[in-house]
Amino acid sequence: MSGPLLKVENLTKHYPIGAGFLKNTIPVVRAVEDVSFSVEAGETLCIVGESGCGKSTVARLLMRLVEPTGGRVLIYETDIAGLKKHELRAYRRQMQMVFQDPYSSLNPRLTAGQIITEPVENFERLTRKQRNALAADLLQKVGMSPEMMHRLPSELSGGQRQRLGIARALALKPSIIIADEAVSALDVSVQAQILNLLMDLQQQMGIAFIFISHDLGVVEHIGHRVAVMYLGRIVELAQCEALFAKPVHPYTEALIAAAPVADPTRVRLPAPVEGEVPSPINPPSGCAFHPRCPLAVDRCRVEVPPLVPIADGRVVACHVRAPATKVSEDSAVAATDGPGAKSRA
Ligand SMILES: Nc1ncnc2c1ncn2[C@@H]1O[C@H](COP(=O)(O)OP(=O)(O)OP(=O)(O)O)[C@@H](O)[C@H]1O
Ligand code: SF4
Ligand SMILES: [Mg+2]
Repeated sequence: MSGPLLKVENLTKHYPIGAGFLKNTIPVVRAVEDVSFSVEAGETLCIVGESGCGKSTVARLLMRLVEPTGGRVLIYETDIAGLKKHELRAYRRQMQMVFQDPYSSLNPRLTAGQIITEPVENFERLTRKQRNALAADLLQKVGMSPEMMHRLPSELSGGQRQRLGIARALALKPSIIIADEAVSALDVSVQAQILNLLMDLQQQMGIAFIFISHDLGVVEHIGHRVAVMYLGRIVELAQCEALFAKPVHPYTEALIAAAPVADPTRVRLPAPVEGEVPSPINPPSGCAFHPRCPLAVDRCRVEVPPLVPIADGRVVACHVRAPATKVSEDSAVAATDGPGAKSRA
């Protein structure tokens, strides 16, 4: 197999809402607009951005829980749109999801053992002995005692339930796990344990992660690369360290300025931008960030800035900070492909 594990090209999702008189007058929520990125085996790509910017919709599109309005998702260069039913099942084995709220995503009537072996039993029959051995192995992988297999979700702590969700995601030996706000509901100390567990599993099993979070502290801890989304679009995609050391897009700068600073040596950035995120039903013209941007110029109100590669390999969509040239526009798509986990410091 060649190429990146996962490649997303110009992915777009518009949700129609309400009923218009004519088909083309139905208003749409522009949840995801022209999003491109790739993920290498064993890499963690984080997706950050304010509530409603389209992070979970990207996850749903990758899992094929919703159909895209446009664009492609390729796994090892195979377009998943063209997969037949049995091929799609194989694809789904490769990509698993861990959710924010483990309680609502775990069947309360099944034991921990049944919950984590269920995905495998959708594909093959297991004897009781095989089922118990698999449950014990997966529970141990996520740092839980095998005896826990007999417990119901209601008999576990929040952290244990999230470990159970991770064990269930591991059951089919996926190449990639999408974690959507997977630690957001947990206490800080339990968060740290779960993040370390995910990083250990990545080291041991070479799993890639798409880690969706609004918490920049968590992202800085776990990410290899970070994609920053604003109103459905990626506005900056960079190596994690470089992004936090020197954000380029004014929105990234604002996000980092608004986040609590764990490192006292880090230079504080100017105050975060003010104002609400505009509606994705009727987004601002040009650069959607322009009503909140302290650097906005006339061009920003009329032209959508393209993603442009800049000196350190990141891509940025900003007329002022990363002005486009013909050459840079041509190479922008290539630059959304990261050098991957190998480059992690
Ligand atoms: N089924 C749907 N129908 C209509 N609009 C939707 C639907 N699902 C999501 N949206 C809208 O799409 C936009 C993106 O939603 P999404 O859930 O992807 O955001 P998010 O970045 O995950 O936010 P959060 O951080 O709050 O989880 C939002 O404006 C949301 O209201
Ligand atoms: S394109 Fe203009 S409005 Fe958008 S971030 Fe850059 S300077 Fe601000
Ligand atoms: Mg979400």
